[in-house]
Amino acid sequence: MASEQNLLNKAGMDAPPSLATEAVLVKSESVPEGTPTIRGYDFNKGINYHELLKSYLTSGFQAQNFGRAVEEINKMITCKLSPIAKEKLKEMNMHPTERVPTNCTIFLSYTSNLISAGVREIIKYLVQHNMVDCIVTTAGGIEEDFIKCMAPTYVGDFSLKGQELRDKGINRIGNLLVPNDNYCKFEDWVMPILDKMLEEQKTEGMLWTPSRMIHRLGKEINHEDSVYYWTYKNNIPVYCPALTDGSLGDMIYFHSYKNPGLVLDLVQDIRGINSIAVQAVNSGMIILGGGVIKHHTCNANLMRNGADFSVYLNTASEFDGSDSGASPDEAVSWGKIKKTAQPVKICAEATLVFPLLVAETFARRELEYKNFMKKEDE
Ligand SMILES: NC(=O)c1ccc[n+]([C@@H]2O[C@H](COP(=O)([O-])OP(=O)(O)OC[C@H]3O[C@@H](n4cnc5c(N)ncnc54)[C@H](O)[C@@H]3O)[C@@H](O)[C@H]2O)c1
Repeated sequence: MASEQNLLNKAGMDAPPSLATEAVLVKSESVPEGTPTIRGYDFNKGINYHELLKSYLTSGFQAQNFGRAVEEINKMITCKLSPIAKEKLKEMNMHPTERVPTNCTIFLSYTSNLISAGVREIIKYLVQHNMVDCIVTTAGGIEEDFIKCMAPTYVGDFSLKGQELRDKGINRIGNLLVPNDNYCKFEDWVMPILDKMLEEQKTEGMLWTPSRMIHRLGKEINHEDSVYYWTYKNNIPVYCPALTDGSLGDMIYFHSYKNPGLVLDLVQDIRGINSIAVQAVNSGMIILGGGVIKHHTCNANLMRNGADFSVYLNTASEFDGSDSGASPDEAVSWGKIKKTAQPVKICAEATLVFPLLVAETFARRELEYKNFMKKEDE
């Protein structure tokens, strides 16, 4: 037996190679005191959605980013509802949108499909209660809101066949369905408004911009379900630099034959959004999705050397070098987010996550907002 052991020792088979043990059993430095530990929700405590969502912060992966985004948005809100420092007030010029300035200007940006989806109602809540200061979206994000005041969008399925839907005159957006008739109703509504706008341009010298047009359409729709009715009521500017890339563009195109001459000026709008960023005491960005809306918001914040608070929520990744997938840290390199900020990106689909984000931030703080506004009015 003993001689067998000796043989094994000689062959080096009685102990693992030191290279492996040193590689696997590396000694740890102690983790800094107070570092939270990973722990999920315990359903033995009952179904408590607030506690469940709070537990995300210590759950890991995108749940953890959700928890960090809740903290970041709550920081924006706390900053917004704090008094403006006296020395800052002196630096401020007249506010470009005639909105009462607050200590933090919150930009909310979203892709068109989110207005087609039920995120529209969440956004409507935010603008109805005057919780954000500036909106950026794309054309579908404007027209789909008005169209929903005229006719509904239906629950569909991703797998419905394009050929069959086309024969029935039904359009598909992911798993949502929009009858083509909805766009005909929109045409009947919007064409006379375009006529009036052209008339005002000719007789009163009105210089229309996409944001002024959206403001006007919000007034005309006069419907409490509409996002842009509330942005009109609360004087929240809405920027849409690509306003013509959707049904509104189709209408503007047809109108240019029927009654030519309407002009939409982009120069006034880029001055508008950039001035809002420049003159903000602090600024926060909540950006749902990518593309034009993401870049337009970040670029405006470049004019102030970066946003103070930022939350991105999108499905895009950065390997292709797209701006949609660009991380907050890439924006830091451009001066679009401040070097000192603690931005968060949640990699997720917005219809799932944004309502929960609002539930844990703006909605929980509605009363604080109301009290703040009462004080501002006094
Ligand atoms: N209902 C519609 O979607 C609709 C209607 C009419 C016109 N359009 C036009 O289509 C064009 C492209 O639309 P867009 O620029 O608004 O965005 P998009 O739909 O092209 O999306 C841009 C990026 O945002 C991210 N994203 C999109 N949806 C997301 C979600 N649900 N959750 C998380 N991330 C998401 C993805 O990374 C995507 O690549 C625009 O010019 C728009 O006006 C869209």
